[in-house]
Amino acid sequence: MSVIALNDVVKRYQTGHETVEALKDVDFRAERGEMVTITGPSGSGKSTLLNMIGLLDTPTEGHIRLDGRDVTDFTEDELTEERRSEIGFVFQDFHLLPMLTATENVELPTMWDTSVDRHDRAVDLLHRVGLGDRLDHRPDQLSGGQRQRVAIARALINEPDILLADEPTGNLDQDTGRTILEELTRLKEDENIAIVSVTHDEQMVGYADRVVQLIDGEIQ
Ligand SMILES: Nc1ncnc2c1ncn2[C@@H]1O[C@H](COP(=O)(O)OP(=O)(O)O)[C@@H](O)[C@H]1O
Ligand SMILES: [Mg+2]
Repeated sequence: MSVIALNDVVKRYQTGHETVEALKDVDFRAERGEMVTITGPSGSGKSTLLNMIGLLDTPTEGHIRLDGRDVTDFTEDELTEERRSEIGFVFQDFHLLPMLTATENVELPTMWDTSVDRHDRAVDLLHRVGLGDRLDHRPDQLSGGQRQRVAIARALINEPDILLADEPTGNLDQDTGRTILEELTRLKEDENIAIVSVTHDEQMVGYADRVVQLIDGEIQ
């Protein structure tokens, strides 16, 4: 069963008297262990689609299923809980907190949680992304690639089924970008997660199991 599935999704934005149809009857799915990369020109609906998959925004029409459960009509609180437990987010500019160490940044999404093993899991994840010797470094003491590894570890702390990555290599040089892509490929297999990314990076397209091309709100 697809971990995330969108069926006949339409998204319209209303601004004043004008309506923009950003997504037109989109069908999309992703499976565990698969990296799907979304490409397309600026304004084609990539961010809108990623926001639907990440349950950050709701469709105007159509259905979204998470692990077979229809979440289309979930309340904002229910969607927040699904996001927290099922989806990890990685961004182009890392979004790390500068005053916290690598370990503390990774632990952050679980700070409210009283379960005992979050510190151990944070340390374990940092080891697995090759930062076992950088646990107490702050972001300004890390390279761009190392910061993105911290962000990836943080995205995995709640053991999500889906990792969403918006231009994850956008701020990295080509070699560093490649190491991050190799890392993501390994993690998708080890953790058996679906990775859905948006990118302009041709190199990234080469690491995808499947490429989804969006033009003018339609999947080609
Ligand atoms: N919040 C919004 N309000 C109105 N129009 C929007 C909004 N977000 C996106 N759009 C429009 O929807 C279309 C798709 O945008 P977007 O998903 O950001 O494309 P991409 O990420 O591929 O550049 C564009 O025409 C954009 O102007
Ligand atoms: Mg965009």
